[in-house]
Amino acid sequence: MDRIAITGGARLEGEIAISGAKNSAIKLMTASLLTDEPLRLTNMPRLADTRFLGQLLRRLGVDVDERDGVAGPETVLHAPEVTSAFAPYDLVRQMRASFNVLGPLLARTGHAKVSLPGGCAIGARPVDLHLKALETLGAHIDLHEGYVYAQAPRGLKGAEIDFPISSVGATEHAMLAAVLAEGVTVLNNAAREPELEDLAQCLNAMGALVEGAGTATITITGVSKLHGATHAVMPDRIETGTYAVAAAMAGGEVRLTHTRGDFIQALLDRIEQAGAEVIHANDGVTIKRNGARLRAVDIETDPYPGLATDVQAQFMALMTMAQGESVIRETIFENRFMHVSELSRLGADITVQGGEARVRGVETLEGAQVMATDLRASVSLVIAGLAARGETVVNRVYHLDRGFERLEEKLGACGARVRRLSDSAD
Ligand code: UD1
Repeated sequence: MDRIAITGGARLEGEIAISGAKNSAIKLMTASLLTDEPLRLTNMPRLADTRFLGQLLRRLGVDVDERDGVAGPETVLHAPEVTSAFAPYDLVRQMRASFNVLGPLLARTGHAKVSLPGGCAIGARPVDLHLKALETLGAHIDLHEGYVYAQAPRGLKGAEIDFPISSVGATEHAMLAAVLAEGVTVLNNAAREPELEDLAQCLNAMGALVEGAGTATITITGVSKLHGATHAVMPDRIETGTYAVAAAMAGGEVRLTHTRGDFIQALLDRIEQAGAEVIHANDGVTIKRNGARLRAVDIETDPYPGLATDVQAQFMALMTMAQGESVIRETIFENRFMHVSELSRLGADITVQGGEARVRGVETLEGAQVMATDLRASVSLVIAGLAARGETVVNRVYHLDRGFERLEEKLGACGARVRRLSDSAD
């Protein structure tokens, strides 16, 4: 199994081109199930998660063609016919967001059997809001032996859906199902993350009528048919935020291009408060830090436009070496401090109580063997490794490969000493 080794202490100087957003790409790919014409997605990231979903979509009858287009990687997805409406456990369990094929399958074929996303995720990250939304649209839903059996033989019907809490996945799922429903659907307390706007733009390019995406009220007027389209995947704001934090941690000057700083404004504000410089540009943002030690800053994760939970672990890594004590509150996911024990192995001083971590900055971290526990947690260990003394080896790198494209190459191009150790190099 691959590992990543980081030798700390190098300043970062250079430019990193940000990839297309993983979290958007995987929802956009499922939109291909809604039409019998080709959907061409440009600016596609090439990641383990997009590969998993490609496998599942092929099983459902989608032709998935990954190409190198003139402007970079693209994927053309074409489902002339949906040949199966069955998404088995072994494919869905690999990536939770695969569950989102349920709505499009139901909208296109009137029925679907989709595995619940597996393991502890069912308890800790339920899909009740997804199912409730589909039921409100008129689907009949049964749960048996880990599977969702959904039926809407006469099609879905537009309805008003009130989300009790903001959920990105459930809002996207409802949107994907409602575009082909009969009549008007209104989503109240919808998630406002930029990925919602990206999905709405793509669906509208396919002939859908979605208004208000990016606000708390989304109105969808159903149409009877969608057609093919070309859509460019939005830049990955979490990758942008991650490299912004990496630059602040290692010091130096890094220009992040092909992205938008405003998508991570809440994070950039905190990075500035901590003492790094943030310079906005038309095609991205530059992060600069010269010498001086960073200051401790408190953060709280919140739905967009608040600070994203997906950069909480990275920011915590930054705070491990800041001057003073930082309080980090996680309000989106209850168990998202798995990186704390690994950061502590590097010498970080962190205590956790409930949804709150207190990070007392230390002057030095020391490289050690650590283990990646999930996607964002694993990249926080890489960030810590950039500033730690000696070598940090991050094990179980497959978590990283799910969501960060060519990480060692991108950081390496800016002078970081990061290398991948594959099995054969053991
Ligand atoms: C998405 C992102 C993830 C990000 C998260 C929050 C993808 C593939 N993943 O996850 O990277 O961290 O948004 O920005 O886009 N909830 C329920 N019932 C449901 C659905 C969600 O209670 O049916 C809860 C969750 O447990 C969580 C909260 O709602 O506490 C927000 O989760 P949600 O926004 O749905 O996250 P995801 O869409 O799973």
